[in-house]
Amino acid sequence: MLNIVLFGPPGAGKGTQSEKIIEKYKLTHLSTGDLFRKHLGEGTELGKLARKFMDEGKLVPDEVVIGMVGDKLASTQDTNGFIFDGFPRTVAQAEALDKLMEENGTQISGMIALDVEEDILKQRIRERGKTSGRTDDQDEAKIETRIRVYLDETLPVASYYEKQGKLSKVNGVGTIEGIFEDISKVIDQY
Ligand code: AP5
Repeated sequence: MLNIVLFGPPGAGKGTQSEKIIEKYKLTHLSTGDLFRKHLGEGTELGKLARKFMDEGKLVPDEVVIGMVGDKLASTQDTNGFIFDGFPRTVAQAEALDKLMEENGTQISGMIALDVEEDILKQRIRERGKTSGRTDDQDEAKIETRIRVYLDETLPVASYYEKQGKLSKVNGVGTIEGIFEDISKVIDQY
């Protein structure tokens, strides 16, 4: 199985590149942000709980995220592997994911980290906010919080995979096709 963590700050292009990866490599997309937005839209208890954190640009508590990912993994049959988008976002989540992979007799193949400077991230998020309907895209303070949370709580996850020799960095600025070519070169080595 091919299990890839696609990593990067808000607006780095994780969702955009995930779509291309799943099409080429026939993987299952597991985006925790998308799963939470689905729950939110359906008005579930999980969605109501997540909304409080998402609206402020803060992380949903680890135990909630890990439980949701565990359920998604358990309910997915016949897959070539997963592309994890927006997960893991804390070292505790990364450790839990390793455990879940081990229980399923598999492991993380590698992490691909998209590198994009802060000004470009903000521009992309502001632009998307005009049409996305995402409440966390529409307010400068929330965008700032999301980037700060990424730097403080999520960036250590890259070191977690680097220590395992599983980190590859890709420049996330350029054309979507060009970035995808660079990502494909990394995946082809797994
Ligand atoms: P989540 O949905 O994961 O959002 P995010 O990490 O903030 O990422 P984004 O969706 O903003 O950006 P992206 O990297 O996918 O970029 P995209 O491809 O859209 O999380 C939302 C919230 O949910 C969190 O804040 C948190 O509250 C909660 N949450 C989720 N997971 C969690 C977890 N594991 N633990 C705890 N809480 C969690 O691209 C951005 C824009 O740029 C698009 O408009 C796109 O068209 C454009 N674009 C993309 N690539 C390019 C390019 N090369 N050139 C020009 N434009 C480009």
